[in-house]
Amino acid sequence: MIFGTVRRLREAGVLGLNERNNRYTLAYNPRYLYPLVDDKLRTKQLALKAGLSVPELYGVIEIEHQIKGIHEVLEGHREFVIKPAQGSGGDGVLVVAGRAKHMYRLVSGVIMGRSQLAHYASNILSGLFSLGGHPDRALIEYRVQFDPLFGAISFQGVPDIRIVVFQGFPVMAMVRLPTRLSDGKANLHQGAIGAGVDIATGRTLTAVWRNEVVTEHPDTGNPVTGLQIPHWDRLLGIAAQAYDLTGMGYVGVDIVLDRDKGPLLLELNARPGLNIQIANRAGLLPRLQLIERIAARPNTVEERVAFAKDHLAAP
Ligand SMILES: Nc1ncnc2c1ncn2[C@@H]1O[C@H](COP(=O)(O)OP(=O)(O)O)[C@@H](O)[C@H]1O
Ligand SMILES: [Mg+2]
Repeated sequence: MIFGTVRRLREAGVLGLNERNNRYTLAYNPRYLYPLVDDKLRTKQLALKAGLSVPELYGVIEIEHQIKGIHEVLEGHREFVIKPAQGSGGDGVLVVAGRAKHMYRLVSGVIMGRSQLAHYASNILSGLFSLGGHPDRALIEYRVQFDPLFGAISFQGVPDIRIVVFQGFPVMAMVRLPTRLSDGKANLHQGAIGAGVDIATGRTLTAVWRNEVVTEHPDTGNPVTGLQIPHWDRLLGIAAQAYDLTGMGYVGVDIVLDRDKGPLLLELNARPGLNIQIANRAGLLPRLQLIERIAARPNTVEERVAFAKDHLAAP
């Protein structure tokens, strides 16, 4: 861990797991709101109602009986993503990039037969990938097409932009880039790399890969620092607006940039990971405390974004 000793961690204002849970998630995320973010179908519906764009839903498989119809649902779609509604950390997310005859081709090139895919969906329903192992639903959705900008620093999958939002203010951001290891997914636990992003400008800072600081993409060798994320103000606006969707005080907002459709809201997380601090070489605590101290809290999304850009610029 780059911040060294516990004392140095404190000085850097790094938020630890217990503190995140006790002082932030428990205090600011009421229990009864969790279902809104722990179920991706509900988040999608809320986002659409609020006028935010999301990856289009092609279908939902809710009960075993519907599985034999899955190939019909997929008929018109060469590419798609199938995932557990209540998954997390990228577990169970399958990115299908094309067809090979009547079979399915994953981003890694692996071919999946029709019965294998049906079996996969059945595993999702049984709760194999879900929080607490509860029975789940399988979502089938549009496969986001990555912006060519990310071609040099992304391996096969679509990068996503994670923004931690506290009481409606974007406080820290990173862009997560898939690697050969991560199988088309942008989750750090799957092996993706996370580059910190300056809240004020949308430019990338250093990056973290498997808990270490890196400056180049491990597969492509291209630098991951100093890149301008496009549509930055819009991304901040979507993140700030996500607060109004659920009323949850402390969330990680995941947004993807589609080549043609622009920014799409992917999901919300009630327990966002702490590695974002390594990617930014900065602690979350001072930023959270700054927001907690604001006396007259601005209400509109625009004001909250402006405040964050003014006060939380990277040094
Ligand atoms: N519709 C999609 N198109 C392309 N990639 C996707 C899509 N949905 C998810 N992914 C990839 O998989 C990762 C994990 O998906 P996500 O929906 O955020 O679930 P989780 O809760 O498991 O993180 C995303 O960060 C993204 O890289
Ligand atoms: Mg995610």
